Amino acid sequence: MSQNLAKQAAARAAIKYIEDDSIVGVGTGSTVNFFIDALAEIKGRIEGAVSSSEASTERLKSHGIPVYDLNAVDSIPVYVDGADESNRYLQLIKGGGAALTREKIVTAVAEKFVCIADPSKVVGCLGEFPLPVEVIPMARSHVARQLVKLGGDPVYREGVITDNGNIILDVYNMKIEKPIEMETAINQIVGVVTNGLFAEKGADVLLIGKEDGEVEIL
Ligand code: A5P
Repeated sequence: MSQNLAKQAAARAAIKYIEDDSIVGVGTGSTVNFFIDALAEIKGRIEGAVSSSEASTERLKSHGIPVYDLNAVDSIPVYVDGADESNRYLQLIKGGGAALTREKIVTAVAEKFVCIADPSKVVGCLGEFPLPVEVIPMARSHVARQLVKLGGDPVYREGVITDNGNIILDVYNMKIEKPIEMETAINQIVGVVTNGLFAEKGADVLLIGKEDGEVEIL
């Protein structure tokens, strides 16, 4: 599939940002899976990884890459992760894979966030992709009502429980013209754990892979 070639190109390009003997922050998703496979080829150069999901942890371990608890590491020079959307300011929507909370935590710790994506992820205005919001289960209806007040149409993601034991509301029909303000407003709702806007702290570098193997750096 040609989109996979683009994802793989971006993933492989991220390897050059990895510092020797470092702990690498590793995100979640199909693009990151290509990154983990590429990381395995240089695993002798790194100390190990901190992972943002059980799925990535399993893949890292299957390659023999040590996975550390975030509380046991002093620093993460580089975090590599995908995105569901990015605008030209490298503000992102993430969480399509329901791993947004751990992704945001590792992003907060990392010194540099290298985002890897295919061209379909780059948009003018965030919000065409439904915005994931992780919610404490008992607050689901309350949070949904508040999200409607903010102009969105929240939909319960059936059958999904996050790695933290919570549920996801996907918010449709949001044209997010002020991402930082919206990220803050949603975080203020009692019962919200995290929302998928990575705007206050977005990516530092965006690697856009192309089907022909070229990579654009933003
Ligand atoms: C996981 O929760 C997400 O934030 C992913 O990073 C995002 O959905 C991108 O996934 P793909 O690389 O599979 O498109």
